[in-house]
Amino acid sequence: MIEVRGLEKAYGKRVALAGVDLTVEAGEVFALLGPNGAGKTTTVEILEGFRARSRGDVKVLGVDPARGDAAWRARIGIVLQTTGAFEELTVAEVVSHFACFYPRPRPADAVIEAVGLTAQRAVRSSELSGGQKRRLDIALGLVGDPELLFLDEPTTGLDPVARRQTWELVRSLAAGGKTVLLTTHYLDEAEALADRAAVIAAGRVIATGRPRELGGRHDAEAEVRFRRAGALAEPALPELAGAVTEAAGLCTIKTAQPTQTVAVLTAWAASAGVAELPELTVMRPSLEQIYLDMIADHDKAAQS
Ligand SMILES: Nc1ncnc2c1ncn2[C@@H]1O[C@H](COP(=O)(O)OP(=O)(O)OP(=O)(O)O)[C@@H](O)[C@H]1O
Ligand SMILES: [Mg+2]
Repeated sequence: MIEVRGLEKAYGKRVALAGVDLTVEAGEVFALLGPNGAGKTTTVEILEGFRARSRGDVKVLGVDPARGDAAWRARIGIVLQTTGAFEELTVAEVVSHFACFYPRPRPADAVIEAVGLTAQRAVRSSELSGGQKRRLDIALGLVGDPELLFLDEPTTGLDPVARRQTWELVRSLAAGGKTVLLTTHYLDEAEALADRAAVIAAGRVIATGRPRELGGRHDAEAEVRFRRAGALAEPALPELAGAVTEAAGLCTIKTAQPTQTVAVLTAWAASAGVAELPELTVMRPSLEQIYLDMIADHDKAAQS
């Protein structure tokens, strides 16, 4: 669906992309993550045929986006990071207007309904709230019934309910066999939607993988934690396969074997007559934590 090899882009002397490689398969939801200025929008807009590249090979639906014709454009849907046009037209008018650009558009009302703007269909675009404008942007990306949809920060500025609605929309597109490339700063969004994600930093891909495996997350150590309360305050801890720290009555074990650790602790508690370990939690690092560590490591390496 999308093949990117050695993609470079410079704006004058500023290098925005320093060799990006990406593959997105048909039917995949793929998320691009990365700090402000990392090069996500630049990458996406080159794939959309909106910006010229400096170097590298790019194929989108088998076509070089720099040479994409009307038939190619009709197969892709685009939601830019910043938009704003046709301020004088109503929601229904803008969507119908955009539908005319495509050979097989979806019915305007169905698209308006899908993004939750039915109550605003007769409202002028200039009078929509920020989040409602974003929903209109998404409607315009969908109206051509594209095979491949680009969403650049689709849910920035949306309220939590609207975000979930957008997630449902993306899921239903994926279930219908569409391919989606999205960018986001919300790690929970990447985790909820993406089959695979890539992290871009300073114009390069520094990691690619399934959200639950990114940055070695699947075999990262877990934290087992419980409170040393009541009959568990005094007795010495059993032998545990991990690093133990205690602070303010809270005992934390960092371990690669959380199940075994809990089993040992449970037996230890039972021998002290305690059936439930107080405030027991087992936590794996969140995607956000993995991401933050990855970016911090990258910044450190870049400085040294
Ligand atoms: N039109 C432009 N002219 C000059 N420099 C640009 C232009 N667009 C982007 N840049 C620069 O290219 C780099 C990458 O920007 P880009 O917009 O691709 O980042 P991004 O990852 O989308 O960031 P954000 O998360 O803030 O949207 C930045 O250093 C930015 O300043
Ligand atoms: Mg951007």
